[in-house]
Amino acid sequence: HIRLGAILEMIHMASLVHDDVIDMADKRRDVPTANSLWGNSLAVLLGDILFSHAMVVSTEFNSIDFCKRLASIVRDVCQGEVAQSSRLYDLSMTKEEYFEIIRKKTASLFSAATGGSAWLSNVSPEIENALYQLGDLLGVAYQIYDDCLDMVGDEDDAGKTLHTDASKGKLTLPIFYLLECGDRNVEASLREAIENQETVDYSKLKDNPVYADSVNKAIQVALNKNEAAREILWLLPQTEYRE
Ligand code: FPP
Ligand code: MG
Repeated sequence: HIRLGAILEMIHMASLVHDDVIDMADKRRDVPTANSLWGNSLAVLLGDILFSHAMVVSTEFNSIDFCKRLASIVRDVCQGEVAQSSRLYDLSMTKEEYFEIIRKKTASLFSAATGGSAWLSNVSPEIENALYQLGDLLGVAYQIYDDCLDMVGDEDDAGKTLHTDASKGKLTLPIFYLLECGDRNVEASLREAIENQETVDYSKLKDNPVYADSVNKAIQVALNKNEAAREILWLLPQTEYRE
């Protein structure tokens, strides 16, 4: 389990080092990003090293099945990122597509952690599938929360670059809700800024109640996913860990 944790942490770290190149982010976890310190080329190579070392360690399980599952999860993460990049500034994108993207780019690794540990523990196929599902729900909830943080979070508290999603054309759940909030002025100005690829200035919006409403609505979706994830735990044997 510790090896699985280390593998997933290295893949996670690799994906964030690459993500910060794509997002041109300066700060993560309160420290300068690799790209801001050493430039994009070295940051891409650093991510590659972390990822390939994770693959080396994964062979220590001596299981082709394990390596195959892991590789397909990483493929899903990358496909999610590609799908996201190909839909930037695209106002015809739907919420269903958003959910599909975040399931791939974020929830895949969560379900690799929960389902992978089930696989290692030789549980029944029913429990293993339920635990994959648990990770999927938690991952989707986490990404929605993270997308809300981009709108309302404080950079110093979060320790990373924020307030860039709308300006970079990334359509997230709170942004979808803001685009359909019912206030024609807000909807039109946001739509226009995204269409023209302009910087979206949240400071002009944040005192309008529709702003908090959109974030709260998205948070409620995340909380419902958490609740569904919690329900899955009842399938597990009753132990102090489940409680
Ligand atoms: C954070 O998203 C990023 C991800 C969830 C995945 C990024 C994956 C890649 C760039 C593919 C490369 C993968 C490997 C294994 C090398 P975000 O930008 O919404 O979150 P943030 O606010 O934390 O930056
Ligand atoms: Mg990012």
